[in-house]
Amino acid sequence: MNILILGSGGREHAFAYKLSQSKKIKKLFVAPGNAGTHQIAENIAINPTDFEAVKKVVLTNKVDMVVVGPEAPLVAGVHDYFLADNELKSIPVIGPKKDGALLEGSKDFSKQFMQKHGIPTAKYQSFTKETLAEGHAFLETLNPPFVLKADGLAAGKGVLILDDIEEAKAELTEMLTNEKFGEASATVVIEEFLKGIELSVFVLTDGKNYKVLPSAKDYKRIGEGDVGLNTGGMGAISPVPFADEVFLNKVEERIIKPTVTGLQKDGIDYRGFIFIGLMNVNGYPFVIEYNVRMGDPETEVVLPRITSDLLSLFEGVANQNLDEKSYEVTNEVATTVMLVSGGYPEAYEKGKEITGLDNVDNAIVFHAGTKIEENTILSNGGRVMAITSFGNTIEEALKHSYTNIDKISFEKMNYRKDIGFDLKS
Ligand code: AMP
Ligand code: GLY
Repeated sequence: MNILILGSGGREHAFAYKLSQSKKIKKLFVAPGNAGTHQIAENIAINPTDFEAVKKVVLTNKVDMVVVGPEAPLVAGVHDYFLADNELKSIPVIGPKKDGALLEGSKDFSKQFMQKHGIPTAKYQSFTKETLAEGHAFLETLNPPFVLKADGLAAGKGVLILDDIEEAKAELTEMLTNEKFGEASATVVIEEFLKGIELSVFVLTDGKNYKVLPSAKDYKRIGEGDVGLNTGGMGAISPVPFADEVFLNKVEERIIKPTVTGLQKDGIDYRGFIFIGLMNVNGYPFVIEYNVRMGDPETEVVLPRITSDLLSLFEGVANQNLDEKSYEVTNEVATTVMLVSGGYPEAYEKGKEITGLDNVDNAIVFHAGTKIEENTILSNGGRVMAITSFGNTIEEALKHSYTNIDKISFEKMNYRKDIGFDLKS
């Protein structure tokens, strides 16, 4: 089969890496891809939200399936575009249609969905410019900290957690009346603060059946000890030690099953990944958010642990017989550490030569923001590459990741030296 992956990050390199192991693969394309995907697939320089360009690539290269990495093309309706086009409609897209993508595209929608289907989540109310005064009154009824969320996509920046009621009221006003996050904050969800430890669980579903993929925990803050600005993710660990069988059973019964059946009841034919961000509150899982894609860098630890054929699972999603597909996961721990450009997540420089990659052993290098020019690999983004390793324990896997990081360098390279600090035995 010929497969096209949309996207250009570490997540998409991990998809390409895993799919390239499948015997059924004839040709693999990544659009636009990076220097890492260039080594194992053909990169095609188009924007994944330019659907006409995607169509051209699919038809020219006789693509048999499209795997969507990031949320933007899904929320913009790439799957719907395929279904509405006579030449494309028989080509499966892994990723939900617009209606399902709303689980990530609108926090208000996802909260209503959870409430309707009895899925545990923080109590909430939504407000608009017209109901600002009610929003202030609602804040008065809550205990700090106050959680304010822009309804729409805000590049991961639309969530504010504030201790002071006056500050919370002022921010709510900013979001609703001054469009602090643009259109995304025309509606704001205010919710109760959940105290606990976060983790993520990933589900692959064909709309009827599902497979629960390995759990993972990512490290979002730039600074060691989880301090400083939020990033896309500085590292990840899979599995999460406290996500034991008892806890994961609760996740499956209370969250995954009602989510998949809720989508069916609401007439949403969902084919793709569901990334469930959870808070473990005293042993009970609560949903913080849904994403309609895999996480990055979580994918860089989740996919390498899956030992069965990923393409066969995707075929199950497309043909709605995922229940017939074999699915196995190694017991080994996987860790990944993200190398970032100095200054990230604020201003940083690009175009730095990356050296030492040939010396890496006992680790997988997943490229994120990289490009290749005249056989030289250059940094091309804030998050540059993720170094994934395996071990029998978190410590052992991390040791391999960090030993290999010592061999890699580029000007102003930065990374967190404490990934997994809170999970080690
Ligand atoms: P989100 O974009 O919804 O994942 O929120 C970003 C981050 O804010 C999450 O990863 C949590 O760390 C935190 N957060 C969001 N909602 C809550 C909540 N209700 N209680 C506590 N922390 C939250
Ligand atoms: N690492 C978090 C995300 O992909 O949203």
